[in-house]
Amino acid sequence: MQRALVFILFLTCLACQPASKATQAEATDSTSQAPKARTESLSIDLVAWKNKLGPTESITVSNDPVFHRTKTFDAIPLATVLKQIPAYTNINPAETQVVFECEDGYNPSMPLTKILGKKAYLAVRDHDAAQGEDWTTLQKGSETKKIAPYYICYTDVSGDDATYKWPYNLVKISLTSASKETQALFPKDDDSVVKGYGLFKTHCLTCHALNGVGGTLGPELNFPKSVTEYWKTDDLKAFIAHPDQYRNKVKMPTLGLEAKEINEIVGYLSYMAKHKSK
Ligand code: HEC
Repeated sequence: MQRALVFILFLTCLACQPASKATQAEATDSTSQAPKARTESLSIDLVAWKNKLGPTESITVSNDPVFHRTKTFDAIPLATVLKQIPAYTNINPAETQVVFECEDGYNPSMPLTKILGKKAYLAVRDHDAAQGEDWTTLQKGSETKKIAPYYICYTDVSGDDATYKWPYNLVKISLTSASKETQALFPKDDDSVVKGYGLFKTHCLTCHALNGVGGTLGPELNFPKSVTEYWKTDDLKAFIAHPDQYRNKVKMPTLGLEAKEINEIVGYLSYMAKHKSK
C-alpha cells in the first residue's frame, strides 16, 4: 500500500518535471525551485557525485562503436550507479525509461529493463588517457569531441544495434516514466504510422523533440511548425538521408537509413503535425 502511494507521488512528480528535456543548466535551475528531495530523487548528477558512484573495475569493450576499436576503461556497473538514485527502490522497472543527459544536449534514453539485461557500464577513465588525465578526446571529421566526464558502454552488446545507446560527454542520468513518453508520442489513432513512430524513437528522438519531448541537440521538429509543413516532402526525405548534402558543416549525422524507413518516419512526422500538444 505504502509502495503504491510512493509510486503515485513519483508519477505526480514526473508530471511536473519534464526530466527528458532538462539540460544541465535547467536541471540545476529546477532543483533550486522545486521541492528538493523529490526533484533530486529522480536523477543523479554524475559530476556532483564524482568519487561516490561506486568502486571501479577494469573492463574491455571489443569493437567499441564510438572509438572504432577495442578499448579498456575503468568503469562502474551502471546498475550500481542507478541504485544510487534515491527513488530507485520505489519505481517499477518495466515502466521506467532511463534518460542520459549529455553536456551538448544529446539526450538518448532506453528502457531500464533493457539496460539491466546487459552488462552496461559507466566508464570513468580511459586507459589510453595521458598520465594524470581521465580521458582522451575523439576526432570526428573536423570536430573534436569531448568524452569526459563519463561514457556509457557495454561489454556484451554489438555497436551495430542502434537500440543501445553509447552516450559520451555524459553529465546526468534521470529516470522518467516510459508511459509518459509513449503517451506524448505514440500514434494512438493511426496504426499505419506505428512503425514510423518506432523508427523515430530509435533514430531521431535522442536529438530531436516532438511537442517538447525528446533531445535538444537538434531542433524541435513538430512545434510550433512541423518540418512537414515547411519542407517540401522530397527535400525532407533527402535531407534525412544525407544532411551533409544540404548544409555545410551540418551537425546531424548521416544515419544510413533505407528509403523505406525514411518514408515511414516522414509519415509519422506528418501524423504528429496534426497532433500538436503545446
Ligand atoms: C545526433 C543527433 C541527431 C540525430 C540522431 C538526428 N538529428 Fe536531425 N538534426 C540534428 C541537428 C544538430 C540538426 C541541425 C542541423 C544543422 O542545421 O546543422 C538537425 C536537423 C534536422 C532537420 C532540419 C530541421 C530544420 O527545419 O532545419 C530535420 C528535418 C531533421 N534533423 C530530422 C531528423 C530525423 C527525421 C532524424 C531521425 C531519422 C534525425 N533528424 C536524427 C541532429 C540530429
